[in-house]
Amino acid sequence: MSVRLIDTYAKPFLSEKEYEYMQAQLNAAHTTLQERSGAGNAFLGWVDLPRDYDKEEYARIKKAAAKIQKSCDVFIVIGIGGSYLGARAVVEFLKSPLYNNLKKDTPDIYFSGCNISASNMQELLAICEGRDVCINVISKSGTTTEPAVAFRIFREFLEKKYGTEGARERIFVTTDRARGTLKGFADAMGYETFVVPDDVGGRFSVLSAVGLLPIAVSGVEIDELMAGATAAREALAEPDLTKNDCYKYAALRNALSRRGKTTEILVGYEPYLQMLTEWWKQLYGESEGKDGKGIFPASVIFSTDLHSLGQYIQDGVRNLFETVVWVKESGTKQPIPHDPQNIDGLNFLSGKDLNYVNEMAKQGTLFAHVDGGVPNLVIELEDRSPRSLGYLLYFFEKACAISGYLLGVNPFDQPGVEAYKKNMFALLGKPGYEEQKNALEARISAQK
Ligand code: PA5
Repeated sequence: MSVRLIDTYAKPFLSEKEYEYMQAQLNAAHTTLQERSGAGNAFLGWVDLPRDYDKEEYARIKKAAAKIQKSCDVFIVIGIGGSYLGARAVVEFLKSPLYNNLKKDTPDIYFSGCNISASNMQELLAICEGRDVCINVISKSGTTTEPAVAFRIFREFLEKKYGTEGARERIFVTTDRARGTLKGFADAMGYETFVVPDDVGGRFSVLSAVGLLPIAVSGVEIDELMAGATAAREALAEPDLTKNDCYKYAALRNALSRRGKTTEILVGYEPYLQMLTEWWKQLYGESEGKDGKGIFPASVIFSTDLHSLGQYIQDGVRNLFETVVWVKESGTKQPIPHDPQNIDGLNFLSGKDLNYVNEMAKQGTLFAHVDGGVPNLVIELEDRSPRSLGYLLYFFEKACAISGYLLGVNPFDQPGVEAYKKNMFALLGKPGYEEQKNALEARISAQK
């Protein structure tokens, strides 16, 4: 098993009875998912994706990745939310958060279309100047403002640099199979396209072309990633919480939240876990935060954040629990040098591996936080391999679905995301939004 859940440091905060209650509820959530009878059941394609993916497209992904690796120095991935977080999380976890700065024979990868920042865009365009560039625009709907605007800008950049014909060879589009406007445009322009399956929502799409193409470009073995997810799909199939750690995780986080622990902090002890925590936050935040319910997903990277949020976690409002993602085998070693002068008084660390020090920081923090009233779950990952990560991604996706059903929400929709868009469109003068524009402008005037 590549992933193990340790509940020792959460158990004292719960009673045995709560475990028993949770099993019955887990059984119900499991049946709902298995029988595809729950809310959002049109979006369960991710459940079997590790096995039932499009093999022809999968082969094309590998071919396109090889072509991109050969033909560019910079690869721009354009997408927002579920259309970029998974790929970025995997590349940073398996390669490095410093991937672009490392010596390598694969292109630099930058992410665009995930904000509306002019300065960020200008910096990316400056980075592309004088270098060979390919882009992958990823948008299931094809109409999301942020990636659509970024696509306009990078398409113009590529067409100016390579002409329409040359740009065609450098633009890769991942979108809805048939319905979206982007698909029609890509076909008309002759761009190579990949599919976001109809029954897979953005935040569950990392193991589709959405994630796999950028991940393959970075040189990650996508076969291994898929093998890990396949192993998870098989191992996490039964609802018995004494045997299924994924279901146990879903049960425990719900049991804790019912006791007022309504904020879950995902904790990593490695900078390469940072983007994974961002992916996880979107997965759980968008899936569960609705109908006035939800566990608020937050994240920290220790020991960095022990020097910023550590105080609050130790001593602030007691509505928190932590889930630590711990990678057992780091695969690297970094000994600490001896200093004959011992200026910092740290010679007791001489010759010790940084991984060991990090582990003691984890252990010490865990005890301190538990003593301070913060339950801790630990998710232990065997190693930093694509197989273990594939397992973990699937583990979190399935736990999220089960957890959403335990909570009594539809884990597969995101109606709340529309509210800001409507206001933004109205303020920007989109046709059809005139009434809303007047109302919002009146509110702005009242502010002055
Ligand atoms: O998880 C989701 O569904 C969202 O985060 C979407 O991925 C995000 O809003 C981007 O949507 P689209 O891929 O349609 O541009």
